[in-house]
Amino acid sequence: MSIQWFPGHMHLTRKAIAERIKDIDVVIELLDARLPGSSSNPLLAGLTGHKPTLKVLNKQDLADPARTPAWLAWYAAQADTGAIALDASDGAPARRLIEGCRQLAPLRKGLSRPMRVLICGIPNVGKSTLINTLSRKSQAKTGDEAGVTKQEQRIVLADDFYLWDTPGMLWPKIIVPESGERLAASGAVGRNAYDEELVALQLLAYLQQHYGAQLLERYKLDLSLEALQALPDDELLEHIARKRGAVMSGGRLNLQKASELVLTDFRGGAIGRITLETPEEFAVWLAAGQAQ
Ligand code: G4P
Repeated sequence: MSIQWFPGHMHLTRKAIAERIKDIDVVIELLDARLPGSSSNPLLAGLTGHKPTLKVLNKQDLADPARTPAWLAWYAAQADTGAIALDASDGAPARRLIEGCRQLAPLRKGLSRPMRVLICGIPNVGKSTLINTLSRKSQAKTGDEAGVTKQEQRIVLADDFYLWDTPGMLWPKIIVPESGERLAASGAVGRNAYDEELVALQLLAYLQQHYGAQLLERYKLDLSLEALQALPDDELLEHIARKRGAVMSGGRLNLQKASELVLTDFRGGAIGRITLETPEEFAVWLAAGQAQ
């Protein structure tokens, strides 16, 4: 199943980025650390004129701590790209962002103006949460002075460091079916764009192979790891429905309810810290998608 997601156009975002980008030194792309590749918008590099980019893998508290370093290294190996992992519990997000950007664009001798950074991210990656935290802690915030439009927000993170928030929406761009499934599982695409049961089944199929022990633990399944991994995904969903009492009158299993339960558990981290793709897997999907 491919996810059919046709969100509103990005006209405002495109226009705002085009107008602002000439003054920008570094672009911060906020990603979901559980699906860094899939939550990246491939159109962004074109929109920002390939400026140095700091990839911020946000919600790292929900992501697999064994996989996040691999993603950070993968991004750090790319030209003009840095990467850090962050989450809402970080006590000093401003310092982390400033350090990350400074490494990409070191202070130039004689540069008399502050460093200017633009932050972008698809919905649900935690941008509002981060911006709110930064605004609360920052020295000043403004949207009401010359050169700052009403829709824009500029946050002064330090005397020599200004952060600009992109107005409008940077919608996810689904380039391979695997990304669509992951974006849907994470809650980044609209509810009416996908079938919850199919997305839950696809999620379970991946978790069975990579996070089987966590599934056994979360749903108290009376199965060995081998038996779990050999189970067809629809039978696994039935096991979960039975265990969690997702049963309709007459004893029929309520698979819709079980699917919602699995997706809610995944989104909230109740199954464990999970990352739905490795850089290698993502590269293979991309190559297969481009070959078609
Ligand atoms: P957006 O502006 O990019 O669309 O995202 P937003 O900040 O609204 O965050 C989307 C959801 O992700 C929110 O949860 C938010 O609390 C949660 N979130 C943001 N950053 C982090 C993080 O670092 N770790 C974790 N675990 N969660 C994070 P919600 O359920 O939609 O709303 P609520 O819980 O705030 O009510």
